[in-house]
Amino acid sequence: MLADALDLLVCPACGSDLDLEERTVLCQRGHSFDVARQGYVSLLAGAATKLTGDSADMITARGEFLDAGHFDPIATAVAAAVGDSADLRILEIGAGTGHYLSRAVDVAEDAIGLGVDISKAAARRTARAHPRVASIVADAWQNLPVRTGSCTHALSIFSPRNPDEIRRILCADGSFVVVTPTQRHLGELIEPLGMVRVDDDKTRRLGESMAGRFDRVDRHAVDFTMELDGSAIAAVVGMGPTARHLSAEQRSERIATLPMPTTVTASVVVATYRPRVAMTSA
Ligand SMILES: C[S@@+](CC[C@H](N)C(=O)[O-])C[C@H]1O[C@@H](n2cnc3c(N)ncnc32)[C@H](O)[C@@H]1O
Ligand SMILES: [Zn+2]
Repeated sequence: MLADALDLLVCPACGSDLDLEERTVLCQRGHSFDVARQGYVSLLAGAATKLTGDSADMITARGEFLDAGHFDPIATAVAAAVGDSADLRILEIGAGTGHYLSRAVDVAEDAIGLGVDISKAAARRTARAHPRVASIVADAWQNLPVRTGSCTHALSIFSPRNPDEIRRILCADGSFVVVTPTQRHLGELIEPLGMVRVDDDKTRRLGESMAGRFDRVDRHAVDFTMELDGSAIAAVVGMGPTARHLSAEQRSERIATLPMPTTVTASVVVATYRPRVAMTSA
């Protein structure tokens, strides 16, 4: 719920503390933000962004696929990477449906989660994902309306990441858990469905973009196969970038050419980073 996460948030316009009154989030300087009927609040700063994130159809497809449990080994690995210490405050950047964040807060009874996404459809869904998860609309590429040093964990799962901002909002002994697909991920569907291929250089660029701000303390592969029927394949294709390039009709024509069920590989890397301690000269 939003009230639980209020201490983690600051006003996007002036950085002051926020209060919740009825259905409005207010700062001491008079900036105010309406809480949507569905329970999320948009804390976008400054000029309107052109980014919209995932569409409502993509979020519905993602919810269907994740709720069916097909990616459960990934959710289990993320929850294990978070661990179960007391007073967890977990932010997920690009939270989508809030699926992984909900699994992560479930590790401890007092853990709270804050889902951040640029997509309103995603924010709506995350707001009802778990009683201890709050949901805001904000842009990962801008300053986050999140208090410096307030979070014990940040998650970025198939999502954008902004290491400078993540470093700022994490406490000194916090962890940043990043899930990225390998080239084998959904490999059996890429050719037949003309899916967008994972960029070969992604892992190298991830390492470089974190350099200087974080040290990697753990990295392990999570690989497994799934037996997917036509509707599960439609959902996994519909939730990703391919959905933007092919119409629903084109997708179903191509899915109809596949054997049913089709064995599909899931292959990701789960990496944990810790903020690098600044070296001070004597
Ligand atoms: C591939 S989905 C992953 C969602 C979720 N982490 C999961 O794995 O189910 C990427 C998410 O990032 C969001 N996103 C894209 N650009 C963003 C931005 N600039 N700021 C915040 N969220 C963004 C999308 O709306 C989408 O929900
Ligand atoms: Zn303000």
